[in-house]
Amino acid sequence: MSLSSELRQATSDLHQAVEQHPLMQSLVNGACHTARYGDYLQALHLTYRSLEAALSKAAAQGLAWATLSDPRWQRSLALQQDLRHLGRDPDRGEPFLANYLSNGLGPTASPAQAMPTAIATAWARYLGDLAGGQILRQLFSRHHPQWPSAFYAFSPHDTNALANELRPRIDALATDASERAATITAARALFAAHIQLFDRLLAQEPAGT
Ligand code: HEM
Repeated sequence: MSLSSELRQATSDLHQAVEQHPLMQSLVNGACHTARYGDYLQALHLTYRSLEAALSKAAAQGLAWATLSDPRWQRSLALQQDLRHLGRDPDRGEPFLANYLSNGLGPTASPAQAMPTAIATAWARYLGDLAGGQILRQLFSRHHPQWPSAFYAFSPHDTNALANELRPRIDALATDASERAATITAARALFAAHIQLFDRLLAQEPAGT
């Protein structure tokens, strides 16, 4: 089985849990307050910034997993655009998930330690944006036509074509059994960290800045 298929199968219970989380449900059914949506986007921006900085560094070091870095699916700039539109500061926000990633990918992690986290995160975030993210985009345009949507827009590129290009890049990595197992462990931990982030966002008053 390909790595991307295995990742999907090994995290299907956790995908269901994130999908059913009250924060995601409030986004799906139009009940999420704009200020809380801003908090969510700020947290995502810090997360992508952490991921995309690590991918750029991997490219500079000539590491194999740098193939996951591609301006066509990078999301930091699109998130900055949406946040400015909402009057929010892209440099602020709930840092939980970004810190979690920095620990896995940051300067103290060796390339061998960083690789499983990088693959798992690029898989979960980018392929998630290209799949479920597109459903959220349609729902938002109905519930909140005033919300900016650069984060969900990959134009002029076709989302299915991008996903079909990213999957084989993932499948070419983590080729030995221990790397593969570590990548699956990292993907499950990443979904669990999303649930913790969503809990934190719901537990705090929306920041509005
Ligand atoms: C309300 C929230 C969400 C909805 C409605 C949703 C929905 C979906 C749907 C419909 C698919 C495609 C399934 C298929 O092709 O059979 C999918 C795939 C996926 N989603 Fe989500 N999702 C949500 C949240 C998330 C989140 C928060 C993440 C990441 C942490 C995520 C990661 C993924 C991944 C990695 C895939 C697999 C894509 C692939 O294999 O190409 N999803 N999601």
